[in-house]
Amino acid sequence: MDTIEIHRLVYVSKFNLGRVDSAPAALRNILSASRRNNAKNGVTGYLIFDGETFLQILEGAEATVSGTFARIESDRRHRHASVLEAKPSSARLFPTWSMAAYLRSPAHEAVFARHGLGGKIHQRTLSADRVVSLAVELSLSVHNSPIRL
Ligand SMILES: Cc1cc2nc3c(=O)[nH]c(=O)nc-3n(C[C@H](O)[C@H](O)[C@H](O)COP(=O)(O)O)c2cc1C
Repeated sequence: MDTIEIHRLVYVSKFNLGRVDSAPAALRNILSASRRNNAKNGVTGYLIFDGETFLQILEGAEATVSGTFARIESDRRHRHASVLEAKPSSARLFPTWSMAAYLRSPAHEAVFARHGLGGKIHQRTLSADRVVSLAVELSLSVHNSPIRL
C-alpha cells in the first residue's frame, strides 16, 4: 500500500534514429537503467516501443516522477518528448513493475487497433487515456513475461 499520493505522467517521444543501437538493443539498455533507478526511487510504469515511437507511463511521488522525467527528457536516445498527461491518481496501475517494456510485434496489432492506435502512431491521434488503456491491456494479456534482463 502506498502512503504517498501517486502521480502519473504519460508522454510520447521519437527514437533518435541517428544513434547506433538497434531498436531492441536500445530498449534493453534503457530498461536496465530504468529498473535500477526506479526500484530505488519508488517509480513504477510501462514503456511501449515500436521502433520509432516511445510511449511511457511513469507513476510515483510527484517530485520523484518529475525528477525522473527531467532526466529522461534530456536523454539523446530520443527527442520531441511531449507530455500527454501529468496528474494525481488514486492508485498505481503497474504496482509490480519498476518498469515493464513492450516491443511492438505484429502479433498484437489487434490490441493496438482496439485502443485506437492501429498502424503508425501519430501524435494527433494520441491521448493519455488511449496510452493508459493500451498499456493496461498489454500488461494483463500479452505480456505476463516482459523483457527479462
Ligand atoms: C524512452 C526512455 C525511457 C526511459 N525511462 C527511464 C525510467 O523510467 N527511469 C530511469 O531512471 N531512466 C529512464 N531512462 C533513462 C534515462 O534517460 C537516463 O539515461 C538514466 O536514468 C540515467 O541513469 P544512470 O545515471 O543510473 O545511468 C529512459 C530513457 C529513455 C530514452
